[in-house]
Amino acid sequence: MTLYGVGLGPGEADLVTVRGKEILEECDVVYSPGRLSRTVALKHVDESKIGDLDFPMTKDEEKLRTAWKAAAAEIAPNARDGDVAFVTLGDPNVYSTFGHLRRTIDAFHPGVELEIVPGVSAVTAFATAMGVEIEAGAGLSLREAASGHSPTGPDRMILFKVTDAPATHEGLLEAGYDVTYGRRLFMEQGETIVTDDPAEIDERDYYTLAYAEKDGLEVEQATAAFQTDDSDASSEDDSPASGEPVTDGGELRDLELAEGCEGGDCGGHR
Ligand SMILES: C[S@@+](CC[C@H](N)C(=O)[O-])C[C@H]1O[C@@H](n2cnc3c(N)ncnc32)[C@H](O)[C@@H]1O
Repeated sequence: MTLYGVGLGPGEADLVTVRGKEILEECDVVYSPGRLSRTVALKHVDESKIGDLDFPMTKDEEKLRTAWKAAAAEIAPNARDGDVAFVTLGDPNVYSTFGHLRRTIDAFHPGVELEIVPGVSAVTAFATAMGVEIEAGAGLSLREAASGHSPTGPDRMILFKVTDAPATHEGLLEAGYDVTYGRRLFMEQGETIVTDDPAEIDERDYYTLAYAEKDGLEVEQATAAFQTDDSDASSEDDSPASGEPVTDGGELRDLELAEGCEGGDCGGHR
């Protein structure tokens, strides 16, 4: 039988994937490492199925190893007898506690089958929540900014664990970045805040990230012309150029394949 690592998405219960929901419903036990993931899981399974695990709030590696060994020892027998899930917010493979569980299971309980169900990560959810477009071809780096750190370098960064926004902001501004902050994005619990003013979020909240973009970064998109050229684009609502693409005899798909979009559905056109 199987241990499923299930990504729950950013925090709203209806952003759990269909597959994630099905797995949660089918599993005998659903283990959650924290209060928020527990709350989301409870929207899909009965409380009697929830298996709580105890993790100390510490950076002491020895204590953490002991806690992970205890968690794996609790989970492994149930995963041999039946199907169980371990839930995490976002995606289980992105900055996630699931990695610790997987390594501990691999080391001490190698017979346990493991499968991962991806979730909507804050890495992608932030873009919609903040109205940011990461255009095809653009780079995007992931960093941590705990305790006021201001990592710099890449043109575009998502900074996780922004726990001291004013201090982080100062460093990023000095290095020439425009910064927007997102707190509790797509989360049912707590207030969602999107702001470029660090003073608005100076109170520490672990569920805060930042999107930093080098000042003056501009990417010329072919379709940008629609916004600047007001000649006649807006009066063509009924023409085939607007709305759904018309049948193109396969030309569009051929073009996509020629540009390296496997399956012709990656949307990767400038
Ligand atoms: C340990 S990482 C977990 C990432 C998660 N596995 C994912 O894929 O989204 C936790 C950090 O992600 C960011 N984060 C996760 N969910 C968030 C949300 N809904 N709103 C804002 N930030 C979030 C915060 O910066 C937080 O400190």
